[in-house]
Amino acid sequence: MQVKPDAKTLPAKKKSASKKDKLPEIKIVQKKRIVFLGSEAAPFIATGGLADVMGSLSKALAKNKDFEISVILPLYGNISSEFTSKFEYLTNFNVSVGWRWQYAGIFKYKYEGVNFYFIDNEYYFKREGNIYGFYDDGERFAFFSRAALDTIARLNIYPDVLHCNDWQTAASVIYLKGMYFGDENFRKIKTVFTIHNIEYQGIFDMNCYSDLFGFSESIRNYIEYNDCINLMKGAIEMTDVVSTVSPTYAEEIKQPFFAHGLSDIINRNANKLCGILNGIDVDYYNPLTDTALFENYSYKNMSGKARCKAELQKMLGLPERSDVPIIAVISRLVSHKGLDLIRGVADDILSDDVQLIVLGKGEIGYENYFKGLAASYSGKCAAIITYNQDLSRKIYSGADIFLMPSLSEPCGLSQMIASRYGTVPVVRETGGLNDSIKPYVNGEGNGFTFRDYNAHDMLFVLRQAENLFRDKVSWQKLLEKVIQYDFSWKNQAKIYENLYKNL
Ligand code: GLC
Repeated sequence: MQVKPDAKTLPAKKKSASKKDKLPEIKIVQKKRIVFLGSEAAPFIATGGLADVMGSLSKALAKNKDFEISVILPLYGNISSEFTSKFEYLTNFNVSVGWRWQYAGIFKYKYEGVNFYFIDNEYYFKREGNIYGFYDDGERFAFFSRAALDTIARLNIYPDVLHCNDWQTAASVIYLKGMYFGDENFRKIKTVFTIHNIEYQGIFDMNCYSDLFGFSESIRNYIEYNDCINLMKGAIEMTDVVSTVSPTYAEEIKQPFFAHGLSDIINRNANKLCGILNGIDVDYYNPLTDTALFENYSYKNMSGKARCKAELQKMLGLPERSDVPIIAVISRLVSHKGLDLIRGVADDILSDDVQLIVLGKGEIGYENYFKGLAASYSGKCAAIITYNQDLSRKIYSGADIFLMPSLSEPCGLSQMIASRYGTVPVVRETGGLNDSIKPYVNGEGNGFTFRDYNAHDMLFVLRQAENLFRDKVSWQKLLEKVIQYDFSWKNQAKIYENLYKNL
């Protein structure tokens, strides 16, 4: 038997030795450095879901101290001075754009744990109105893509992973993998290229190949497609990992119908393709704290939602009735959002005892259609043809049913936001809608879904939702599930972390 030595019988330790023993162990933890490139990020500049993801995913990742997260963006003239006044100027240099050199000034702003770098060139980015849709978008984003890599070198912030998003930053992958590999610091960088929507590929005339993009001849095969430059195709071919924003969409884009001409390219790169469902910023979209709402509420006490509904009805000139379900559509008014299905059965929908609210702008044909619908069904239907964050959140909170019948939807965030505000999604089973909303059957599920792109199938499930709304007890049970459903980045960001670690 071993006898434990009594503390008193142990020889006294020398003072110096005990001190030494107490020295904390120094662990050198090498942070993984991730640099995101994208053409927009909330809260600085936002025109769509890409901005939400860039802003909220980077913030979620920055919470993990094993990572250092940076985002590089263009310094658009329409970024609010509320932010730009706090930006710190770092340096400037010239960037090669085909046969010319263009000025790039670099500003920095640390926001919610993320290092944001902004590339300043007023000729390219200080423009009136929108941030895209100019005749020289190819040149603008070729400049940005190259300037971003040069920023990394100048500031010596070479990342472990460069994470590029959509066609506007596809050229960065191409420059990095095809032209910067002579530099060992760049050669070591792994790339993730995320497709948020495969419809927009960055297609340009071959005349711009060297003149404007400055691409070298040796990589022409990767970039050329159907006799054009196709930046998205080039990035898919050359990147280490291709990701997209939901598992279902990752499968869908292997088919010609969804891939807008790139299905062959996707299929031959399928071994490096993955789909990761987006999350939303649940601090920003929070009915308990959202100042845009008429009254705040939470899953614990949803009484405020009733007031949100009544005030919304009053504001839009609809009868203030709590017993009628409000169906909301908040969407860009473009065809792949499934608006033709709504058009196909709008009279049927509005023959029910419901109210329909449409918010969004886009193609003129849809804008006029919904304006006309609201005029013919005044007191039942309201159409607000604009993009307005504040109003959108008043509608998310005041509505009962959120209709999103997209023809295709890489991920879709609106169904998650609606859910967060306790509004029940009715969606078509495509892309991220299929991954985020499960049909309500025997008390299970968090919304209503239909499979085929068929107006009457949509009408059928919409009416199921309307009927359930009239069954107060069951509806309340569903609402409690819907509003508590976890669409945060907590789990999704971990999937990205593992992806970066395994690269
Ligand atoms: C694009 C897609 C949308 C997705 C968003 C963020 O806007 O069309 O489905 O939610 O990107 O990834």
